[in-house]
Amino acid sequence: MESLKVSIILAAGEGTRMKSKLPKVLHPVAGKSVLSYVVDNCIANEMGKNVVIVGHKAEKVREAFEDWDVIFREQPVGPGIPYGTGFAVKSAMDEFCDEDLVLILTGDTPLFQKETIGNFLNYVEEKDFDGCVLTAIVNNPFGYGRIIRKENSQIVGIVEEKDASDKEKAITEVNTGVFAFKGSALRNTLDRLETNNSQKELYLTDVVKLLVSDGKSVGGYIIGNEEEMLGINSRIQLCRCEEVMRRRINEKHMENGVTFLDPASTVVDAGVEIGRDSVLYPGVILQGNTIIGEDVTLIGSTRIFNSKIGNGCVIDNSCIEQSVVENEVTIGPYAHLRPNSQLMDGVHIGNFVEVKNSIVGEKTKAGHLAYIGDGDVGSGVNIGCGVIFANYNGHKKFRTVVEEGAFIGSNSNLVAPVKVGKDAYIAAGSTITKDVSEGELSVERSQQKNIPGWTSRKNG
Ligand code: UD1
Ligand code: CA
Repeated sequence: MESLKVSIILAAGEGTRMKSKLPKVLHPVAGKSVLSYVVDNCIANEMGKNVVIVGHKAEKVREAFEDWDVIFREQPVGPGIPYGTGFAVKSAMDEFCDEDLVLILTGDTPLFQKETIGNFLNYVEEKDFDGCVLTAIVNNPFGYGRIIRKENSQIVGIVEEKDASDKEKAITEVNTGVFAFKGSALRNTLDRLETNNSQKELYLTDVVKLLVSDGKSVGGYIIGNEEEMLGINSRIQLCRCEEVMRRRINEKHMENGVTFLDPASTVVDAGVEIGRDSVLYPGVILQGNTIIGEDVTLIGSTRIFNSKIGNGCVIDNSCIEQSVVENEVTIGPYAHLRPNSQLMDGVHIGNFVEVKNSIVGEKTKAGHLAYIGDGDVGSGVNIGCGVIFANYNGHKKFRTVVEEGAFIGSNSNLVAPVKVGKDAYIAAGSTITKDVSEGELSVERSQQKNIPGWTSRKNG
């Protein structure tokens, strides 16, 4: 049988130190789960098969990855059942053959670059090692397994923090948690792991010393950038990873021609696209599948989620969710586009205007304090201050149609279903319940009556 490259990704742990209801590997970093970065890395390195080991809260992890090209293996968990990274890998024993090259990664280390894992695999193949560990030399090795080398620098074992002597604790070369093994070498040693350590776990790291005692070839590959191996065991480490990932993302956008006034306070999710010469002020948050065009200025607490913004728009302190904004549109300050809104070229949505499930035509303006809900608004319409599209009768929602060139006076209510024809005028303060035809003026309010001398009569 032809040999394969198989990845095994460990994601069955409890993640106790996170103190969370959510499985550790599902916590987001720059909007994507920790585990997704690890799986993406395996996919990018063209592994023939990706096996994810699940255990604690397995259902949630399976659910989050049901559309991914991965195979799940369940690690049994519970009182009296062994625990540990070695036991986790054992659960995938029937997913690799003796001839395969098996890459093992922990699901809680999202920062490895694709090239790092690729270079590591190339090195292992070139040297034909039975086993190889990816290591890093770090400033603060606390918490990580220490790499034990003989005088001739040959790796002979890995000692966990909790089992290390003071002398071993002083070692600054640590296990990143990434290994590659020949299938046969891994299989032969996994069965001989023991729980004779301070945590009473089956440690994957012990495979190294077993291979060495079997006379197998064991190598180490030191990565240059210690930042890549940051593991997430606690919220503090989660925050550090977020910082690194965010910096990488923002720097990539800057390299592509986007200006950030203060990258440290600008949150851009992985996968967001931003066009050249756009400018992001501090406090901007871009989430999900968001695409921003060229020459766009985003100011203040603007949050844009799963939306597409065209070229030349200016958005000030506003919230935009699942909407499409075409070119040269100005929004805010303090506007809210709720899902399924589409603003055509040159629209202006001003202070405290809310738009929901509506199409707003070219160059239409709603400058102040309006609600446009379930509306089909044509081009060149003027929507005055305080206009309300009354779209809900308590049971059902209805649409309002406003044709091109219409003028909706301030403080009017358009009670849906209703239609205002082309170039029609609605007088300020009207409550419109019947359709208004093209070119008509509709006034719906009682006539103003002025009573002379009323005040002095009342007081006298
Ligand atoms: C592990 C390594 C340590 C290394 C560090 C790198 C061991 C014994 N220790 O320590 O040498 O420096 O990673 O980040 O391997 N998991 C399971 N099943 C289990 C236990 C854990 O799938 O029974 C998974 C966890 O979900 C996690 C990963 O394995 O994604 C690592 O487990 P964790 O408990 O975080 O190990 P560390 O103490 O960080
Ligand atoms: Ca860890």
